[in-house]
Parts: sequence; structure tokens; C-alpha cells
Amino acid sequence: MSTVISFDDVSKTFEAKSGDVHAVRNVCLDIEAGEIFGVIGWSGAGKSTLVRLINGLEPVTSGEVTVLDSTISGLSERRLRPIRPEIGMIFQQFNLFTSKSVAENIAYPLRLAGWDRAKRRARVTELLQFVGLTDKARSYPEQLSGGQKQRVGIARALASGPKILLADECTSALDPETTREVLNLLRRINDELGLTIVLITHEMDIVKHLCDRVAVMERGEVVEQGSVYDIFASPTHSTTRRFVATSLRDTPTDATLRALAASHPGGRLVTVAVREERGSSAEISNLVGGTDGVSGALVYGGITDVGQRPIGSLTYSLTGDDERVDRLVTQLHAVTDVVEHLPEDVAASAEDLTPTPSDASVVDGTDPQTDEREAGR
Ligand SMILES: Nc1ncnc2c1ncn2[C@@H]1O[C@H](COP(=O)(O)OP(=O)(O)O)[C@@H](O)[C@H]1O
Ligand SMILES: [Mg+2]
Repeated sequence: MSTVISFDDVSKTFEAKSGDVHAVRNVCLDIEAGEIFGVIGWSGAGKSTLVRLINGLEPVTSGEVTVLDSTISGLSERRLRPIRPEIGMIFQQFNLFTSKSVAENIAYPLRLAGWDRAKRRARVTELLQFVGLTDKARSYPEQLSGGQKQRVGIARALASGPKILLADECTSALDPETTREVLNLLRRINDELGLTIVLITHEMDIVKHLCDRVAVMERGEVVEQGSVYDIFASPTHSTTRRFVATSLRDTPTDATLRALAASHPGGRLVTVAVREERGSSAEISNLVGGTDGVSGALVYGGITDVGQRPIGSLTYSLTGDDERVDRLVTQLHAVTDVVEHLPEDVAASAEDLTPTPSDASVVDGTDPQTDEREAGR
């Protein structure tokens, strides 16, 4: 694989009246040809600034950005011009010309690039077909649904035949069903056209659905990066753990634990991680079901897949002789990550009732309170 986008110790500082804003700090990243690379972070983390450094819309303050073997940082507008057609970009608000028809919107970059009329027409026809909007060629943006508008945005971004597509929160203005449609279109662009996609989002479900690798940004820094499966299976940074928890929802909150403790008196509550190799669900079920003198009731949990590999967690209420339960817990520890929810912890957590972050607080950029799920780990 070859690297198509590379950040070498890149920083970007904005000078504002209230002081310097360190939007991107000391970022090192390599994005490989043909992958879908996610960048996730709360609002204000520096994601949009990071993508604007890729297409040279913003100059770097220090470090070096290399795109398709050209050093972008420090290039003049004139020297950037031949590289721009290699990089398409789509936006949350679509950024379409309201006074131009769908076909004219898509043709716009081709007109700028000096394509003649016949070539433009042929290309627009091809693109409309690819995004499934052939019958909307003469419509105007206001006549389209959000999903259709974004498909026009995508067709326009693809017009000049780029090798890279930058997608900045491109589904944030869409409902869940339309989001899925647009994500599936991005998948086709990656599969069929072979484009490398950099996908900016604040939703871990999108990363899970689409990305090969992901970088987690916080306050301008990349705090963690890796394959999506590894990030889901063993997140190390607290921000990453919170994002993973928003997507998996497989571990009980403190409130749920209290309810489980009340409805299973005498049981010991234990949560075990389910993974592909170490800690498969079969291995865990065999241990829990096959221990003499211990009965394990499955009381909470979920298993999903990330890139067709299983991931999740199961919470059991274990009853039986304390010594035997101890032995089972030790055996479980040998095959996977185990958390025992001790009665005093479950009770203590009732005292500091922290609100669960709502989706709205993520969107509007306020940092959500520490998630209850995380505290339960
Ligand atoms: N042109 C600018 N001038 C000053 N500050 C900016 C500018 N663009 C972004 N910022 C600041 O940089 C930080 C990162 O912003 P941004 O890259 O838009 O984050 P994100 O896309 O993750 O929400 C924020 O604090 C934002 O206010
Ligand atoms: Mg942004």
C-alpha cells in the first residue's frame, strides 16, 4: 500500500483577538491508498481544520502535509491548482448553488477546469447515473430532499475524477435512513472507483459502519489511532472509550446495575468482554454454563460486529458457593477482560447521579459529562 496523505508533526494555530487558538497540534498521520479513514472528535476538536490542511484551504503553521507525493504545505495558490482536481470535498450543508440546476451544479468544476461542452455533458450524465439522480438533472436544489442534495454534492465532488474524497460531517444534516443511503454511496465510491476517503464525524456508529481505520481527535491532538476493530476492542484513551460506549451500548449503566442487583439478590454481577479470539462467546458460555455448583443468569449485554468480527460484552448474575464463583471469575479472567460489580460500588454510585449525555450535547459541542457506562467499567 502506498501513502496518499501524510501529516508530519503538523500544527495549525489561528490568531484570534482573545489569544491563539491551537486548532491542530503536532499531528502525525499516514492515510493509505484505497482506505476509508475516519477522524472522530467532539465539536471544536480540530477535525475541519485538519481536512482543510489536506486540500490547502488553510496553510499549516508548522510541520508538513504531503498529498499524492506533493508537499501541500507552503505551496502557492498557483502551484496548488493542478493538485486540487485530485481532491474532492463534500460538506454538511451541501454547499450547492441554489440558482443552478442539478446538472449545472455538477458541471461547475468542469467548466472551471476548461472542459468543453460535449465532454461536460457526457461526464454529468455519467455522474448523475452513478448517484441515481438521472431524472433530477433539470431540478433545482430547493426541489430536492436532503439526501438528494448530498448526492448532488457527491457527484460534483467526483466530477473531475479525484483520487481522494474528503467528507466533513457529510451526513450530520440527514435523518438516519438517508444517512445510511449516503454512507452506502460512499462505500461504492471506495469499492468501485477506488477513491481514498477521509471521513470526518462525531458519530462512532458511522466509523463502525464504514471506516477501516480511525483517528480520535481532542483539543487539536490525535489522542489515539488504529484499525477500527482494535479501537473498539481495546480503546485506551478516555475520549475513545466514551465514543466506543456511545456505539456499543453493551455495558450496563450504574442505574441498570442497581436495578439488576435488586432483581437478582444474592447474585454476583460480572461483566465480561466478548472478542474474536480471546474471549469468544462460545468460550465464555462454556465456562459459565459448565461450572458445577454455580449458576450464571445472563442479565445484560450485547454482541455486534465490527468489520464482520464480533465484539461486545455480557453481564451475568452468578450464584453459588463463594469459593466456586471465585474460581469461575479467575477462569474468566484468564480468557477475557472481566469486571465484577461489587455491591458497595453499585450502591455508592447511586450517590453521584451524573446525567447521561444526550445526543444534542454532542452535536452542539459541549463536552458531555463522564458517561455512566464508563464509570461502570
Ligand atoms: N478561521 C478560524 N479562526 C479562528 N479560530 C478558528 C478558525 N477555524 C477554526 N477555529 C477554531 O479552531 C478550533 C477547531 O475548530 P474546527 O477545526 O472547526 O473543529 P471541529 O471541526 O472538530 O469542530 C475551534 O476552537 C475553532 O473555534
Ligand atoms: Mg467541523
